[in-house]
Amino acid sequence: MTEINPGDFKILVTGGAGYIGSHTVVELQKQGFPVVIVDNLSNSRDFVVDRIAEITGVAPEFHRFDLADRDKTAGFFASHPDLKAVIHFAAFKAVGESMGEPLKYYLNNLDALLNVLQGMRAAGVENLVFSSSCTVYGQPDDLPVRETSPVKDAWSPYANTKQMSEQIIRFTSSSFGLRAIALRYFNPVGAHETARIGELPLGIPNNLTPFITQTAAGLHECLKVFGDDYPTPDGTAIRDYIHVTDLARAHIAAVRRMFDGRSASDFEVFNVGTGNGYSVKEVIQSFERVSGKKLPVDIVSRRPGDIVQVWADTSLANRELCWEAEKTLDEMMLSAWEWQQSLSNQ
Ligand code: UFG
Repeated sequence: MTEINPGDFKILVTGGAGYIGSHTVVELQKQGFPVVIVDNLSNSRDFVVDRIAEITGVAPEFHRFDLADRDKTAGFFASHPDLKAVIHFAAFKAVGESMGEPLKYYLNNLDALLNVLQGMRAAGVENLVFSSSCTVYGQPDDLPVRETSPVKDAWSPYANTKQMSEQIIRFTSSSFGLRAIALRYFNPVGAHETARIGELPLGIPNNLTPFITQTAAGLHECLKVFGDDYPTPDGTAIRDYIHVTDLARAHIAAVRRMFDGRSASDFEVFNVGTGNGYSVKEVIQSFERVSGKKLPVDIVSRRPGDIVQVWADTSLANRELCWEAEKTLDEMMLSAWEWQQSLSNQ
């Protein structure tokens, strides 16, 4: 493998103050990559940038603006001619909200991507990592799901923006010498080992892990389990949960692949999960084991739009990105709990 000097490869991380973005910036800076963050803080807080500096000892360059603003984005790229890659996280991500406000999702997620691509073309930035999602598969017919599995009709506008974005990038990459990698995330959970950065859900969380940790912290009366009559061994739905730091490391593996010239084609797609499926009940048991807290649980009916089960075939990412998820479910739950406790103590 070629050894690059990371200091020569400045990387723009859009949405770098967000949940996955902030963990990725930490891993990039730990490896010596100079980072520029653009974030409008619509789903984050400004202290996150300070915390990244605290963890890594390096303050990333930070610009606060909305990438859906075409002129501002063009101006940003014009003033940053030395960027070597973009990792594009900035997007709205709440599946439920996207059902009620589809246009908000199409406008924001697609406008930001198009402006970033325009800026990259104008500035000659040739490498892109895109934040995609396993939701592009819908409910797969065969498990574990592979990158070659069909991308089915989207179940939500959010998922549809990820499908459309992948297609936009695929066609764009062949038109102007762009190399791109889309990472299809499974279910990111947990927080940084320092408990200084983590997920900051706005309002009442929709996702399982923040709801679990908030319930254990006494912020909710009980955890609702959405359905125990699924055709799974214990009746609850199954997902592939991956620790956010493992997920962050996959982005570094992806940019290194492009910088080393190892891409097999202009546009590549990789599943980023652990390859293990866990049921909602197993996640709860893991949390109770590591936290020593018993969760009040209420079994309710299925949540509309939820798929039964999905987990990843990660062999392509393991082989091609030379990357592997390392953290166990217990480690994921413990770090999520430590983060919740640090939030409660603030
Ligand atoms: N669940 C509960 N109770 C809750 C919350 C969730 O039982 O309070 C269940 C859900 O029904 C589901 C499982 O826990 O079976 C996981 O639900 P999440 O909401 O945590 O995650 P999803 O798989 O629905 O979706 C998440 C993100 C999406 C992302 C997708 C795949 O919300 O943005 O993973 O990457 F696209």
